[in-house]
Order: sequence, then C-alpha cells, then structure tokens
Amino acid sequence: MEQLGIPYTGSGVLASALGMHKPTFKTLLTALNIDTPRSVTVLADHSVESTLTTVELNLGCYPVFVKPAGGGGSLGAGIARDADELAGLLRARGKEQYAEYMVEEYIDGIPCTVGILDQGRPAVLPPLTCETDRVFYDYEAKHDRGLRRETCPAELPEGVEQRVVETALKVHQQIGAHGVSCVDFLICPDGRSPVLEVNTVPSLSEQGSLATMATAAGVSYMEMIKRVLDTAFTKDAYVP
Ligand SMILES: Nc1ncnc2c1ncn2[C@@H]1O[C@H](COP(=O)(O)OP(=O)(O)O)[C@@H](O)[C@H]1O
Ligand SMILES: [Mg+2]
Repeated sequence: MEQLGIPYTGSGVLASALGMHKPTFKTLLTALNIDTPRSVTVLADHSVESTLTTVELNLGCYPVFVKPAGGGGSLGAGIARDADELAGLLRARGKEQYAEYMVEEYIDGIPCTVGILDQGRPAVLPPLTCETDRVFYDYEAKHDRGLRRETCPAELPEGVEQRVVETALKVHQQIGAHGVSCVDFLICPDGRSPVLEVNTVPSLSEQGSLATMATAAGVSYMEMIKRVLDTAFTKDAYVP
C-alpha cells in the first residue's frame, strides 16, 4: 500500500514490523528499562537437545512459556514445567510452520491489555484485565467469551495502574506506532507488571478488547471506528 500510495489505518511499516517480531521488540524494551519476562530466542531447526541447553544456560529455571517469535492470538504457545515437557513441546512445534520461537520465564499473573487511541493525540484507554480458568489466556479463551472474565476499567492497585498506563504510552511512542495500539502486560501478585507485547493492528471487532476499552472511556463503537479510519490520513509519509 505504501508503494501503491493507498492510505491505510494505524501504524506504518517500521512500528508494525517491530511489534510483530517479539524478540526485537523485547530488545527495545530492555534498552528502555521496561520490565519484560527474561527470554531466549530459539530456532525450530536446531536440535531439541541443543535448545534445552540454551534454555538451561539463559533462563536456568522452569516453568517456561514458549511462543512463536512472530505469531499471535496465542497460537503455537504453551507452558513447559520441566525439561521433559519442553522437549515434548519443541518436538510437537517442530512440525508447525514457525521458524523461530521465544522461550520466556513463566510469569504468574493476570493478562491485562492497555489500548491507545488517537483522539487528536495518543490517549490511553482504561486498562482491561482478562481472567480465565484455562491454563493460560489461550486461543480458545480469546474466541469464546464464556471462557474468560473481562474487567474494564481493571481493578488494579493505584501504583500498578499508573505504571501500566505510562508504560503503554511510552511503548506506543517509542516504537513509533500511529493512531492505535494495544500493549499486553501480566499483572503479578508481587506488584510486577511485565510487558509481553504490543499489537499495532488490534482487533476492531465490536466484542474485542479495544472496543470494550473505548466504551469504558465513553467512546462509542462507531466513534472508535471513525477515529481509527481517520488515522489513515494523519500518518507521516514513509521514507525507506
Ligand atoms: N512469559 C509468560 N508467562 C506466563 N504466561 C504467558 C507468558 N507469555 C504469554 N503468556 C500467556 O499467553 C498469552 C498470550 O501471550 P502474548 O505474549 O500476548 O502473545 P500473543 O501474540 O499470542 O497474544 C498471555 O495473555 C498469557 O496468558
Ligand atoms: Mg497478546
């Protein structure tokens, strides 16, 4: 669309590319001193034995959380409680199409997302937490409202709320996102709130998190869509 000169909503090429590749995004977070789970990137075509050694050397403890480096929607993700489970997961994942995975320290926390929507300037929407009885916030829980309990505005301790709001805005600005984004966190019992990822192309569904957060901010669904459409015409030109 850049080459054809067709306007498109949301972020430009660089911000979306940074957001899509979790390891690169996490390198940026670390440089910015923003808390994110410790992780190591592994390649699907390496032997399971060498990957186990890499994980052991870099993380040194279990459980770990495995996810594709460039995936989304919780697809291909899973928890391994020990080296045997990780080996099983890696063997199963080896048959899938992802070339690269991230293995992260497992964080015990409640998934939380914070939306940013351009309202003349980037404005942070009320955070949304999402609890589930499933092992984690997986693909099924994301697509079946009966499998999750959303709270928006989230009931967060004051300091944590302020931190996630400030961090979401910082992430949005530092990756050069435009118009709309959602930053995912985990809210931990010990007060930590590590960033998992940023979504520069969040779902615009009426049942989606962004619409729920917009509603909580007093922005109707139609108004939200209008504001997202407007972002196609306010983006700086892409200069490769
Ligand atoms: N390091 C982790 N520890 C524990 N759970 C995690 C971790 N990373 C991700 N998860 C779980 O997986 C879900 C999706 O992770 P996320 O990094 O946002 O990837 P996706 O792009 O698939 O949404 C999170 O909401 C959380 O439930
Ligand atoms: Mg996510």
